[in-house]
Amino acid sequence: MELWSALCLLLLCAFHLVSAQITTDPDEVTALNKIVDHWNLVNHLNLTIDPCNQNATWASETANPRVACDCTGSTCHITHLKVYALDIVGDIPRELFELKQLKDLNLGQNVLSGRIPPEIGQLSNMQYLSLGVNNLTGPVPPELGNLTKLVELSFSSNQFSGPLPLDLGKLTSLQQLYIDSSGVTGPMPQELGNLKSLQTLWASDNLFTGKLPEFLGTLTQLIDLRLEGTLLEGPIPISFGALTKLDILRIGDLSKEDSSLEFLENLTSLSMLSLRSCQVSGKIPELIGKFAKLQYLDLRFNKLSGPIPDSFQEFTLLQFLYLGNNNLSGQLPTSIISPKLIALDVSFNPISGNLPPNSSTDGFSMNVLGTSINANGLSDRGVPGLLHCLQGDTKCTNKLPEKSSFSIKCGGTSQKSVSGIEYDDDSEILGAASSYKSSRNQWAVSNTGNFIFNSNGPQYSAHTESQITETLESELYKSARISPTSLRYYGLDLKNGKYVVELHFAEIEMEDTHSWKGLGRRLFDVYIQGERVVQDLNIQKEAGGSKRALIKTFETNVSNTIMDIHFLWAGKGTCCIPYQGTYGPLVSAIHVYEVSGAGSSSKSERKRVGRIVGISLGCAAVMIIMSSVFYLWWIKDEAEPRHIRIRTEMRKK
Ligand SMILES: *[C@@H]1O[C@H](CO)[C@@H](O)[C@H](O)[C@H]1NC(C)=O
Ligand SMILES: *[C@@H]1O[C@H](CO)[C@@H](O)[C@H](O)[C@H]1NC(C)=O
Ligand SMILES: *[C@@H]1O[C@H](CO)[C@@H](O)[C@H](O)[C@H]1NC(C)=O
Ligand SMILES: *[C@@H]1O[C@H](CO)[C@@H](O)[C@H](O)[C@H]1NC(C)=O
Ligand SMILES: *[C@@H]1O[C@H](CO)[C@@H](O)[C@H](O)[C@H]1NC(C)=O
Ligand SMILES: *[C@@H]1O[C@H](CO)[C@@H](O)[C@H](O)[C@H]1NC(C)=O
Ligand SMILES: *[C@@H]1O[C@H](CO)[C@@H](O)[C@H](O)[C@H]1NC(C)=O
Ligand SMILES: *[C@@H]1O[C@H](CO)[C@@H](O)[C@H](O)[C@H]1NC(C)=O
Repeated sequence: MELWSALCLLLLCAFHLVSAQITTDPDEVTALNKIVDHWNLVNHLNLTIDPCNQNATWASETANPRVACDCTGSTCHITHLKVYALDIVGDIPRELFELKQLKDLNLGQNVLSGRIPPEIGQLSNMQYLSLGVNNLTGPVPPELGNLTKLVELSFSSNQFSGPLPLDLGKLTSLQQLYIDSSGVTGPMPQELGNLKSLQTLWASDNLFTGKLPEFLGTLTQLIDLRLEGTLLEGPIPISFGALTKLDILRIGDLSKEDSSLEFLENLTSLSMLSLRSCQVSGKIPELIGKFAKLQYLDLRFNKLSGPIPDSFQEFTLLQFLYLGNNNLSGQLPTSIISPKLIALDVSFNPISGNLPPNSSTDGFSMNVLGTSINANGLSDRGVPGLLHCLQGDTKCTNKLPEKSSFSIKCGGTSQKSVSGIEYDDDSEILGAASSYKSSRNQWAVSNTGNFIFNSNGPQYSAHTESQITETLESELYKSARISPTSLRYYGLDLKNGKYVVELHFAEIEMEDTHSWKGLGRRLFDVYIQGERVVQDLNIQKEAGGSKRALIKTFETNVSNTIMDIHFLWAGKGTCCIPYQGTYGPLVSAIHVYEVSGAGSSSKSERKRVGRIVGISLGCAAVMIIMSSVFYLWWIKDEAEPRHIRIRTEMRKK
C-alpha cells in the first residue's frame, strides 16, 4: 500500500515535470500571433501566455474565440480555432496555413473578404471547416479537395463566383455540406456523386444550371436535402426514390419538364416534404397518406389535378398542409382537419366541399380563397367566385362596380399619409394559411407559408422604431407585411379601366451595417394581374440601403373588376441573416388608383404624384426630376396618364 502511493506520487511528479516542459510549436505560436494582429483580436486573445495553456480563458470548449491544442506528443499543436460572429474583417491571412494540425476551423459569421487562398489545401487534417456567412469572393478553390478528412464543410452565404470545383468529389468522408447562397453557378459537378457519406446537403439559392442531377439519387445516406431557388430544370429524377433515409426534402423552382410524385413511393421517413413550384403534374398518390412521420407537406404552385386523397385523413402528425395553386378538384375530405393540423391551404384550386362548423378553432388557420368551398363560419372572410374572376369569367360580380382606388397599410394600422391618402388597416394577425377581406370589402389578402428555420412561431408582419429616409412618409414604412412564400392582395369590385399600382417598400429587417448582419439578401418577385413585373426584387439594393423608402409604380388594366397583386418568394436570397427565417416578400403599403376615364382623379392626387417622384428618386436624376416635377405642375390640367408615363420611365433608369 505504502509503495503503491509512493509510486503514484512519483508518477504524478514526473507527469507534472513533463507537462511543464511541454512547449507549443514555435512556428504555430508566431503564426497565431500574426493572425491575432491581422484580425485585430488582441482584446480577445492576449497571447502573453502559451496559447496551448489549458488554463487560458480561450481554451474552454465554449470560449469564443477559442484555441485548443493537441499536446499528446512532445510538442503541442493547435488543432482548434474558432472566431465566430466577432465581425472580423479583412482577408484570410497566409499565416493560417502554418497551423497544419488544424482539425476544426470555424470562422463563421464574420465579414472576411477576398478569396480563399489555394494554400487551404495544406490543412489536410481538417475535419470541420466553416466559412459560412462571410463576404468571400472569387472561385471556390479546387484545393479544398485535398481536405479528404473533412466531415463537415460550410461556405454558405458568401459571394463566390464560378462553378463548384470537381475536386469536391474527393471529400468522401463528408457528412454535411452547406453551400446555400454561396454565389456559385453552373452545373452541379457529377463528381459530387462520390460523396456517399453525405447526410446533409443544403444547396439552395445558387445559380445552378442544367437538369436536377440524377446522381443525387445515389447519395443514399442523405437525411436532409435542400435545393430551392436555383436555375435547375426538372424533372425530379426517379433515382431520388432511393433516398429512403430522407427526413427533410425541399426542392423548388424547377423549370422546363414536368415532374411526377412517383419517386416518393419509398420515402416513408419524411417529416418535411416541400416541392413548391416544381411543375409537378398528375395526381397526388394515395400512398403519401401513409407517411406516418409527415409533419409538413407543401405541394403549392404545381399542376396537380384530381382529388385530395382520402388517405390524407390517416396522417397523425401532420401540422402544415399546403396544396394551394394547383388544379385539385372534387370534394375536400373534411376529415383531414384533425386537431393536430395548424394550417390548411387549398386556395386557388377548383375544389369544393362544406366545412364543418368546428373547423374554425383557435390556432388553426385555413385558406380557401379561390375555391368553391363553403366555409361556414369562415365564409365572410373568403371571396366567393374569386377564382372565376381571375380566370376571366365576365360575370364575376352582380353589382355594378364603382370603386376606382384602394390603399392598404400592409401589416399596420390605418393611417393618413402626409399627402392625404387614407391607407386601410391591415394589421390583422395572420396565420400560416389565411385570407381575409377588408372591413369595407375593398380588398382581400391571402398569405400562406411558414418561415423555415424560425422556431419563434409565425409572424407575418415586421416593425421598426427607426426613421425611414428618402421619404416624408416615414410612418408608412415602419411596419410591413412579410410572408415566407406567397402574399397576395386583391382589389375587389373595381371599375374596369387603366390603373396605376404604387408599391411602397423599405427594408426594415435586414441591416446595411458593416457587420455580418449586413450580409443578408432578400429577393422576391412581384406579379400584377398574373404578369411578373419584377423578378428578384432586392429592396435594400434598389433603395440604396436599409430603412430607405422605395416606390415602384406600374400601369395595368382592370378588365374583370379584380386587381391581383402577388408577392412571391422563388427560393432566392439568404435564409437567416440577421436572424433565422429572414427572407421572402416584404411590402409596406399599396396605393392603387384608376387613371383613365373622366373625373377619376383629383387635382390633389396629381400634385402628390409630382411630390413622390421628387422624393423617391436618387440624386443622379435630380436634374431630370427637378424639370419633370416642374413639368408635372405645369401640365397639371392635362390628363393623368402623361404623368404616369413620365414617372414610370424615369424609375427605370
Ligand atoms: C495583455 O496581457 C498583458 C499581461 O497580462 C497586459 O500587460 C496587456 O495590457 C494585455 N494587452 C491587452 C491588449 O489586453
Ligand atoms: C492550471 O491551473 C492549475 C491550478 O490553478 C495549476 O496547478 C496548473 O499548473 C495550471 N496548468 C498550467 C499548464 O499552467
Ligand atoms: C495536399 O495535402 C498534402 C498532404 O496531405 C500536401 O503535401 C500537399 O501540398 C497538399 N496539396 C495542396 C494542393 O495543397
Ligand atoms: C420502392 O421499393 C420497391 C421494393 O424495393 C421497389 O420495387 C420500387 O422500385 C421502389 N420504388 C421507387 C420509386 O424507387
Ligand atoms: C384541371 O383538371 C381538369 C380535370 O380535373 C382538366 O380537365 C383540366 O384540363 C385541368 N386544367 C389544367 C390547366 O391543367
Ligand atoms: C370536428 O368534429 C368532428 C366530429 O364531431 C371531429 O371528428 C373533428 O376532429 C373535429 N375537428 C376539430 C378540428 O376539432
Ligand atoms: C461585402 O463586399 C462588398 C464588395 O465586394 C462590399 O461592397 C460590401 O460592403 C461588403 N459587405 C459588408 C457587410 O461589409
Ligand atoms: C391596357 O389596355 C390598353 C388598351 O385597352 C392597352 O393598350 C395597354 O397595353 C394595356 N396595358 C397593359 C399594362 O396591359
